[in-house]
This record gives sequence, structure tokens and C-alpha cells, in this order.
Amino acid sequence: MRKNIIIVAIVSLVASYGLLLSCTQSDAGKSAQSDAGKTAPVKSELLSPIAFDSSAVPNTPFGKAVLYGRELMINTAYYIGPTGVNGRYLRNYMSCSNCHQNGGIKPHSFSLVFSQDEYPQYRAREGKVLSLSDRVNNCINRPMNGKSLPYDSKEMLAFLCYLKWINDQWEHDTRFKEKAAAPLQLTDTAASPQRGAVLFEANCSRCHGGEGQGLLNSQGRRYVYPPLWGDSSYQSGSSMHRVIKMAGWLKTNMPYDRVTPNTPFLTDQQALDLAAFVNDDRIHKRPVPKDGKDYPDVLTKPVDYGEGPYFDFFPQVQHKFGPYPPIIRYLKEKGLKPSY
Ligand code: HEC
Ligand code: HEC
Repeated sequence: MRKNIIIVAIVSLVASYGLLLSCTQSDAGKSAQSDAGKTAPVKSELLSPIAFDSSAVPNTPFGKAVLYGRELMINTAYYIGPTGVNGRYLRNYMSCSNCHQNGGIKPHSFSLVFSQDEYPQYRAREGKVLSLSDRVNNCINRPMNGKSLPYDSKEMLAFLCYLKWINDQWEHDTRFKEKAAAPLQLTDTAASPQRGAVLFEANCSRCHGGEGQGLLNSQGRRYVYPPLWGDSSYQSGSSMHRVIKMAGWLKTNMPYDRVTPNTPFLTDQQALDLAAFVNDDRIHKRPVPKDGKDYPDVLTKPVDYGEGPYFDFFPQVQHKFGPYPPIIRYLKEKGLKPSY
């Protein structure tokens, strides 16, 4: 027992030394260093990783749909991408799993584990109640820049069967929803695309490419490293295009080979600066949504939504890049519930 404790102590010492080393080595964003201490803690008790056990899935029509649904999550474009073998719905080659990692079961990676519980749900962006199928199509339309799957298609049903299966596998915890993305400490420093550019070069371009273009696999139907901007990336109407939303995700997901859900690599300010750089439409073009007007009720618009009009008097650039706390305080004073 005692021996085990000593071994654990040594391992964690070595691990934290390694982390320290890798932080100092690649911490090119010296300007963001003063904010390093402000990184919000991640609630580790909520984050035990879970695994998908395909052998537990029954060999029935429902079970087959569950397994196809998981395939679709991970190899989306292979099946329904621009040259998909089972249909052509997406206009890019991204996979759902690029953002909802490990088929939507990785903690703090926009987990979909209990999404089935949440729908039908009123959605402020559309200003109406959406079913889970509508919500899946939202992601087909926006991040994947595609056209909606028919509700009765084999693919939509497979997504629904998979989402039901993962919803039923683990004990429900009402706090689980919180782990969609890691909490961030928002400060009165605005996110800076300039600082983000330096951080990108040092920590991200080695995989995503200097132009954020990503890297397709040799068959050209799936990304090894998905694109971050450009015509082949997510639309500007995607939630990923919002700076706070992306930063919370970056904190526990990127750089891909340096983080776990419990050990962020980037500080909160670095994550915000990177999200600002990637999502800065002045320097990075991406597809724009073709359909209707988002957030018909301006009172429900998220604080970090980059398009006006707004309820408050804060300029568009502050909504996009912060500082956010003054906006949040103002909305609270007016008795509103700020979302981000
Ligand atoms: C570019 C990143 C990206 C891609 C690719 C993507 N999504 Fe999403 N998805 C998001 C974000 C961001 C949210 C909002 C998460 C939040 O607000 O917590 C979301 C939300 C969802 C939700 C609602 C979750 C809930 O509980 O409310 C579902 C369901 C969903 N996505 C399914 C999919 C499916 C299926 C695919 C592939 C067809 C997909 N997504 C592709 C980024 C993405
Ligand atoms: C070691 C390679 C690697 C590095 C370094 C890396 N990423 Fe990624 N990134 C990936 C992979 C792989 C995925 C897709 C994950 C999956 O499919 O499970 C991804 C997905 C993403 C996504 C969501 C999908 C998309 O294309 O929009 C974003 C955003 C992202 N990375 C941003 C970054 C940023 C910012 C950095 C630097 C802090 C970074 N990444 C560093 C490998 C990397």
C-alpha cells in the first residue's frame, strides 16, 4: 500500500515536471503569462472518462442502428460528405467527432451523453422548440455547412438510436450538462487575435497547418487534422464561432496531444486569445449561414455572439472579443440571464 503511494507520488512528480517543462518550452504567448494564475479550476469529480463498449450493443435492428450511428459520428464525411458513399449531405469533410470527440462521450468536449434527455427544447437561436432531429440537423447545416437529413432517413434514425444508447448507458447526473465545455475565468482583458496568432504558430499550426487548412487522410474522405477556417470549415453561424464557447472547449481539448479533460494546457486567457484569432472574420473567411435570422428575440442573444443587434449599448467588437464581464454585469443589473 505504502509502496503504491510512493510510486504514485513519484509518477505525479515526474508528470507535473514534464508538464512544467512542456509549458515553458512552448509558451510562446509570453504576453498572456500574467493571466496564467487566473485559470478557472476544472471540476475533476465530474470528469471520469467513459468508454463505448460495442460488445454491449445487442445484435438487433436497433443495435445495428446504434453502431451505424457511432460510425456516422466518427466517419461522418465518408458516409454523408460531399462524396459520401451513403448520401451527399455535407459540404465539407468534417466529422461530428472533430468537435464532439470520441463520438460525443468525451467529457468537456461538447459531450452528447445526455442530450436525448434535453429535447424537445426551446432554442433561442431559432426562437422555437426543436426536436433532437432538428438539433442534429442544426449541426449538419452549420458546422458541416450541409443540407438537412430527412427525418426518416436511415442516417437520422441512426444518429437518434446512438444518442439514445449513450443516454441510457451511464448514471444520470444533473451536473453532467455542465461538462459540455470547461469553465473559464473571464477577466477585464479582451481576447486578442494578435496574441492568438503568436500562440497559434507555437501550438497549433504543426497539426492544423499554417493556413488553418487541416490535413485530409489519403482517401480524402476524413480529416486527420480538421480545418479551422476557410471554405472547408464550419460556418460563422456555428456555436464554435463564438469566442467564449470555443475557448472553453480549447482549454481541455487542444493541443490534442497535450491535454486531458482534467489537465488543461492553455491558460484561460490563451484559450480566449486563440479562439479570437481563429474566429476573427476580418482575417479568416468561412462559409456564412444561408437561412433566416438568428436570435429573433435579442434579449436571449449570447453575450459572445458576434452579430448585432444587441439589447445593450456595448459595441459589436466587445461582444465578439470581450471584455465580457461588463456586459454580463449590465445584463444582470437589468434582471436578465446572460448566456455564453
Ligand atoms: C465544428 C464543431 C462541431 C461539429 C463538426 C458538430 N458539432 Fe454538434 N455542436 C457543436 C457545438 C459547439 C454545440 C453546442 C454545445 C453547447 O452549447 O454546449 C453542438 C451541439 C450539438 C447537439 C446538442 C447538444 C445538446 O445537448 O444540446 C447535438 C445533438 C449535436 N451537436 C450533434 C452533432 C452531430 C450529430 C454532428 C455531426 C453530424 C455534429 N454535432 C457536428 C459543435 C459541432
Ligand atoms: C497534435 C495535433 C494537434 C494540435 C497540436 C492541435 N490540434 Fe486541434 N485538432 C486535432 C485533431 C486530431 C482534431 C480532431 C479531434 C477528433 O476528431 O477527435 C482537432 C480539432 C480541433 C478543433 C475542432 C474542429 C475544427 O476543425 O474546428 C479546433 C477548433 C481545434 N482543433 C483547434 C486547435 C487549436 C487552437 C490548437 C492550438 C492550441 C490545436 N487545435 C492544436 C489535432 C491537433
